[in-house]
Amino acid sequence: MSVTILGIESSCDDTAAAIVRDGILLSNVIADQEVHRKYGGVVPELASRAHQQNIIPVVDQAIKEAGVRQEDISGLAFTRGPGLLGSLLVGTSFAKGFSMALGIPLLEVNHLQAHILVHFLQKEGEAKETISFPFLSLLVSGGHTQLVIVKDYNQMETIGKTIDDAAGEAFDKCAKVIGLPYPGGPMVDRYAASGNPEAFRFNKPRIVGLDYSFSGLKTSFLYFLRDRLKEDEDFIAKNRDDLCASIQKTIVDILVEKLEMACRQTGIREIALAGGVSANSGLRNRMLELGNKNGWNVFIPEPRLTTDNAAMIAITGFFKYLSGEFASLDITPLARLPV
Ligand code: KG4
Ligand code: ZN
Repeated sequence: MSVTILGIESSCDDTAAAIVRDGILLSNVIADQEVHRKYGGVVPELASRAHQQNIIPVVDQAIKEAGVRQEDISGLAFTRGPGLLGSLLVGTSFAKGFSMALGIPLLEVNHLQAHILVHFLQKEGEAKETISFPFLSLLVSGGHTQLVIVKDYNQMETIGKTIDDAAGEAFDKCAKVIGLPYPGGPMVDRYAASGNPEAFRFNKPRIVGLDYSFSGLKTSFLYFLRDRLKEDEDFIAKNRDDLCASIQKTIVDILVEKLEMACRQTGIREIALAGGVSANSGLRNRMLELGNKNGWNVFIPEPRLTTDNAAMIAITGFFKYLSGEFASLDITPLARLPV
């Protein structure tokens, strides 16, 4: 008998719902929230209100696009955390109510594990190479930057993480300094394509071991610009593409240096990129180059599955359903939740 999972994601500023049947993605709907743009970052209170407005239409659309009936749904997967508590509460409460109404099990999903497990999603009629355990994942998003050994669907170990800002935050903060709107990461990527990555050099952090640090980079970028702007007030406008290309190269250099170290230490050669920053073309290209150079088997999610989505929640819920890991109705969301 088929297993059909409805996934719901509401951890930050995207309200998303998706249907996965037997590991195959049938629909994937995302409503992003324009309301935060003018504030230069996500405003938690506004995010929860927008989730309240979006959640029913988004779920309805996901079910319709998948062509399934409500009574075909076997289980309901939702993001328990980590994320903004008010946002998580909307998804959690909706998931509880809907699972009770349909009389189906509730499946709690860790958002970070879900970013990684997105690699197991299949598409109708597509036979794709699947990743095998154990693999090493570089999980890079707006809130997290970690190196994770993935031993099984629900067995993951973090071996390195950022001690301050996440890589996505570094992209967004540097973008803000040069006047780009939030979230700046995708725009830096776009302008970087026409810039020279060697035009400017920024200091890289010296952190021992597998941990990361990005807060110093943002500060040195800020001071660098302050000095240049004293000499030429149009410096940013004249050098936008080169600035984007150089900052992107620096962030990618920092990310892959530790990844190579982790591969040497663990001997793992199956490498999976995950999280919003894995949409970055500089990082994607570098991963492919490193794959060839080091003999790694590199897995990169398709761009629409890198940033927050509910397809990743549904596929994670699918594995939980198969192993009978059901959540009880008194479950509460958690703002902090490790991999
Ligand atoms: O995974 P995600 O959607 O949300 C979190 O769980 O944080 O990641 C969002 C982050 C943002 O910081 C955004 O700027 C960054 O991913 N991002 C990018 C690109 N696309 C998204 N950063 C650089 N280049 C991109 N193309
Ligand atoms: Zn995320």
